[in-house]
Amino acid sequence: MKLKIFWCTTSVILIVVFFLGIYGRQIEVGTNMAVEGLDNEMTHILYYAALAPSSHNAQMWKTDVYPEEGRLVISVDEARALPAVDPEKREAFISMGAYARSCILAFEAYGYNASYHINENGHAVTFNYSKNGMSMDEGLINLMKRRHTDKRVYNQNPIPEFFQEGLNGISGLTYYTHGSVEFDDIKQYTIAAAAAQRDDQSIRDELAEWLRFSNSEVVEKKDGLSAEQLGITGMKKSLYYLFMSREKAGGDSFAQQGYDMTVSQINGCAGLVAISAEDKPKAYVEAGMHLMEVWLYAVRNNIEVQPMSCGVESWKHRHSLQQVLSLSAPPQLVLRVGYVDGVYGENIPVRRDLRDYVTVK
Ligand SMILES: Cc1cc2nc3c(=O)[nH]c(=O)nc-3n(C[C@H](O)[C@H](O)[C@H](O)COP(=O)(O)O)c2cc1C
Repeated sequence: MKLKIFWCTTSVILIVVFFLGIYGRQIEVGTNMAVEGLDNEMTHILYYAALAPSSHNAQMWKTDVYPEEGRLVISVDEARALPAVDPEKREAFISMGAYARSCILAFEAYGYNASYHINENGHAVTFNYSKNGMSMDEGLINLMKRRHTDKRVYNQNPIPEFFQEGLNGISGLTYYTHGSVEFDDIKQYTIAAAAAQRDDQSIRDELAEWLRFSNSEVVEKKDGLSAEQLGITGMKKSLYYLFMSREKAGGDSFAQQGYDMTVSQINGCAGLVAISAEDKPKAYVEAGMHLMEVWLYAVRNNIEVQPMSCGVESWKHRHSLQQVLSLSAPPQLVLRVGYVDGVYGENIPVRRDLRDYVTVK
């Protein structure tokens, strides 16, 4: 009898573990690239461009293509902006800038010349493109596919001098080594802002809206933050999807966990990169372009990156931080950089179907 109970219990546990394991596997979102009026090459260019980062993975951009004229115009999709955490749409413009830089790179990778112009008010970026006959640059596409946000705690192995020097080649960048006075200043601002955001219900609720709570929700919406993008994988992912809900994600306990994680993350890195720019939409777009450049430079050198935005999300805080750090313009982005002890992370390509935001004119 005892043996029977033992085998029954063991079988149930094995079955549960098996199904949790299956559910915890990484899913394929299967972004549909088809857009009527665009050829296969153009849709691939637009797909790879959209692997750009965006806050909460909201992908807040719209794309109009004029294939006959070789012209592309991108703008911010205001309906996808984040009014609670980003009331000035600053991060929406930065995200659009990252997408703009990504468009240029994808064009280059596919053998196109592409020039761009940012509107004076920063609300749109226009590209003119034409085929230049160069063969495809697979290496560049692979680099874009490899870029990702890594939320794990990094070790403190120093960032090599050559990398720090290379940052000088990108406008508005400053590097602060872990433990420097300036690093500690940014850390204090980040932790204080994380505490304020932890206690702000509207910011919590907005984040909860962009979190995903099942594989099917990820596949259906193709945006927002899946378990994998939060760094939760395997069995932990299954348990997260089983027990977490939108309501719980807006609650105190989840908010406290988010705060605790921010504290460990800012302590767990080799250094911070600040990207400074004036406070106007056009400069935000340019900052987004620089974000993409520094991020790919980091990927090329196996350095992990995570934007840590909360410390610069309020106008007052970033202007005060500008004074403290003696910068010529306020920091618009802070990136945590470093190495992980395990394997270099990978991109989780949760991206919308192209026809959701691409219009052929
Ligand atoms: C302007 C901006 C701000 C961001 N802020 C944060 C942040 O504060 N914390 C974080 O973990 N990721 C942040 N991210 C990263 C996004 O969450 C990430 O790009 C998005 O989820 C897509 O994932 P991927 O970068 O791995 O492709 C930010 C990205 C951008 C463009």
